[in-house]
Amino acid sequence: MSFPETRMRRLRRTESMRALVRETAVAPGDLIYPLFLTPGEGVRRAVGSMPGVFNLSVDEAVREAEEAVSLGLGGLLLFGLPEAKDERGSGAWDENGIVQQGLRALKQTAAAKKLVLIADVCLCEYTSHGHCGVIVETPHGFDVDNDSSLDLLSRTAVSLAQAGADVVAPSDMMDGRVRAIRRALDGCGCQQTPILSYAAKFASAFYGPFREAADSAPQFGDRKSYQMDGANLREALREIDLDLEEGADMILMKPAMPYLDVIRAARERVGVPIGAYQVSGEYSMLQAAFELGWLDRDRAILESLLGIRRAGADFIVTYFAKEAAKMLG
Ligand code: PBG
Repeated sequence: MSFPETRMRRLRRTESMRALVRETAVAPGDLIYPLFLTPGEGVRRAVGSMPGVFNLSVDEAVREAEEAVSLGLGGLLLFGLPEAKDERGSGAWDENGIVQQGLRALKQTAAAKKLVLIADVCLCEYTSHGHCGVIVETPHGFDVDNDSSLDLLSRTAVSLAQAGADVVAPSDMMDGRVRAIRRALDGCGCQQTPILSYAAKFASAFYGPFREAADSAPQFGDRKSYQMDGANLREALREIDLDLEEGADMILMKPAMPYLDVIRAARERVGVPIGAYQVSGEYSMLQAAFELGWLDRDRAILESLLGIRRAGADFIVTYFAKEAAKMLG
C-alpha cells in the first residue's frame, strides 16, 4: 500500500505520538564526561579552544564528580597534565602521578560508587615529544617504537587500576597493547579490571582542541604511523577483531560524527559494548556555531548525541555530557 492509503505523517502529528514510535533514546547514564586533571588546589583553568572545558585540580575534579552524580551521568574519563614530562613519559605510571592522585581522591567520595571511573592509558600527555610511545632512531629517521612501548603502557594501566580506576582505556594504538595490558593486570591482582580499548582510533584533525586541553601535541611529525587512516573501514574491523582476541572487554570508536558508518559496522559485527567518543573538535565546532548564533544549541547537542546512539553506540564520551543530562533529566 502506498499513498493515499499510507500516510507517514499520521504518526508524527503530536509529541506523544512521536514519543511512542521513537526508536532511539539518549539517557544521562549513557554519557561519560572527560576531565583533565592538573596539579594544585582550587585550579580551574579554561581551555581556550574548548569553551566550557577546564583543566581541574583534584579538589575541583571531586566537585565535578559530585555534579556528575547529581545529573545521573554514567561515568568520567580521566586525563592528566603532569608536573613534568620526560622522554619515556614516566609520569604516566608514577604512583603519585596526577591521575593516580585524582583516582585515590575520587575513590574516597560517595560519588565514586555511582560513577564508572575510566582512566585513559597513553603516554602522549607525559612524554616531552608528545608521541604516544617511545621514540627510537632508525636508519629511516625517528620512529615510535611499538614493542618497547608495551611495557610502559602496561605499567601505566596497572598503576591506574591499583589507584582505583574501574576501567582502563588504552588510546595509544600500539599493536599488541591489549594483550600486554591484560597480562599485566592479571599478574597484579587486577583480574577484575575491564579494558575499554580505543579499537578504531583514526588519525584525525578533530583531536586538535584536545591537544591544547591535555598539552599533548606531538612536537614533531604526526600520529599517522600508529593511528588509523580515515579512509579505512575494513581495517577498522580488523583492529576491532584483534583487540577482542587480545582480551578487550569493550571497544571505543573515535572520532564519532565523521565515522558513524564505522560505528554501525562495528555494531553489526560484534556483541561487546561499544562506546563512541564525540571528540574535542566535534565539540568545539558546535560551540563555535552556537557562539555565532548559527545553530540552536540544545537541539543540536541532543541531535548529535542521538545520531551517535542510532549508529549503534551504547555509550558516548562527550564534553556535552553535563549540558545534555540537564536537558534530558
Ligand atoms: C591520547 C588521546 C587523544 C584523545 C584521546 N586520547 C589525543 C590524540 O590521540 O592525539 C583525543 C580526544 C579528543 O580530541 O577529545 N592519545
